Amino acid sequence: MDKILVLDFGGQYNQLIARRVRAAQVFAEIKPYNKITPEEIALSGYRGIIFTGGPHSVYAPDAPRCQKEVLSLGIPVLGICYGHQLLAFLSGGTIAPAKEGSEYGKTEVQTQSSVLFEGVPKESICWMSHTDAVQVLPTGFHTIASSEKCAVAAMADDERKLYGVQFHPEVTHTVYGETVLHNFLFRVCGCKASWQMQNVAQELIARYRKKLIGKRVLLALSGGVDSSVAAVLLQKAIGDALVCVFVDHGLLRKGEGDFVERTFRDQFGVRLIRVNAEALFLHALRGVSDPEQKRKIIGEAFIRVFESEAKRLGKTDVLAQGTIYPDVIESGKGDSAVIKSHHNVGGLPERMGFSEIAEPLRELFKDEVRAIGETLGLPRELVWRQPFPGPGLGVRVLGEITKEKLELLREADAIFRETVDELAQKPNQYFAVLTESRSVGVMGDARTYGYTVVLRAVTTDDFMTAEWTRLPYEALEKASGRITNEVRGITRVVFDITSKPPATVEWE
Ligand code: XMP
Repeated sequence: MDKILVLDFGGQYNQLIARRVRAAQVFAEIKPYNKITPEEIALSGYRGIIFTGGPHSVYAPDAPRCQKEVLSLGIPVLGICYGHQLLAFLSGGTIAPAKEGSEYGKTEVQTQSSVLFEGVPKESICWMSHTDAVQVLPTGFHTIASSEKCAVAAMADDERKLYGVQFHPEVTHTVYGETVLHNFLFRVCGCKASWQMQNVAQELIARYRKKLIGKRVLLALSGGVDSSVAAVLLQKAIGDALVCVFVDHGLLRKGEGDFVERTFRDQFGVRLIRVNAEALFLHALRGVSDPEQKRKIIGEAFIRVFESEAKRLGKTDVLAQGTIYPDVIESGKGDSAVIKSHHNVGGLPERMGFSEIAEPLRELFKDEVRAIGETLGLPRELVWRQPFPGPGLGVRVLGEITKEKLELLREADAIFRETVDELAQKPNQYFAVLTESRSVGVMGDARTYGYTVVLRAVTTDDFMTAEWTRLPYEALEKASGRITNEVRGITRVVFDITSKPPATVEWE
């Protein structure tokens, strides 16, 4: 399988570059610039290398630089932004702050005839974000694009297959960015489009069948996308040697526990143990209203329940987890690069002494995990489900959690989600929150006194920032009407119009 190395110099779009390459059906992996040597690159069989952007100037004392020998391996290189400047610098060119000033945002660029720009018009809009620029081209290179303020907006050494672009082809604002990347992958590097999710799923099943032969494997299934796809992949690989434990903590949404059980046990034949641990969780949470303490109690109770189930099952060799690629990518932002080690079920491996961890999704981005889920036939509502926090409704019942409050919230939340699901355009996350505040209402001729429920809907790319979604008034009216009529105990419905920041998506 052809693959591309994305050499990471600390830019903000680095994962996006790898995702764009993979969207073109070519496998790409990201490595920090200082964690792979030219010899290792040569031995790894990459068809091409992409130098990413980064926040530095190439002359800064702490500027991230790879060894010059990377350019002499006979492997094509595409430098982007900082990567373009570094390519020029390593090849003997000169870089300096652009005399005409920095360029930021949409910029018109004139291109010349080049393999990199086949199918790109002579004038097009690109996304720029730079202060430095290539001033003197290195020997062997010629200019293939320029803009008003940037004489060398792109350069090429066709002989050695080295290319640099000052703009960002990976962002959608660069109108022909996809064409530029495709030209590099297919015309310059000669890659074949072989990274297709159907093949990847089959390859993973075969690989894990071999890897886990004769072993017993345990997986904590939450019903989220990642653990669900991991469960079905491994079930197809090793069948009943996989046991999935689904801890139902009683903090799930309406009908969720039964849906998970039906899907995995009935539809996919997964050996599933559903632990009904509502009483244990509610007992542990009694009298607790501090959000952080709730999270901690829920996390610890989860581990306790999971451990005791594992013990009951007897010796298990392998713990399987739904870890995905963004969780394991090392950052190239300097020498102190840290691996974010993510365990879906925090702390389990250390405490439970498994001899092996299996993470079948560790090479995949979220959109690829979803695509694999679809090829395996998982229901759309599971594959495309909105994020749901690990502590579940525990952080959506404000203050102390009781069974009654959970019941009210489950009903209100189901009505709201049902209403939003009828809309053509859906927010990225939408749910209800039960507040501690109670207010007076009137129904018929009688006075009522009940809880206030908050409806929350956000639009976001990455959940780091989010905007409150402008839901149609009709939808809000419908949800409010149904909730106050159908859920006895809720007398008031309000809509949250706070974005993140300053608020967070969840209320606790
Ligand atoms: P916040 O509230 O931090 O949420 O703006 C951002 C995203 O993360 C989800 N979230 C959690 N997920 N455990 C999780 O697994 C948690 O404790 C947790 N808290 C928030 C939230 O639903 C949103 O998608």
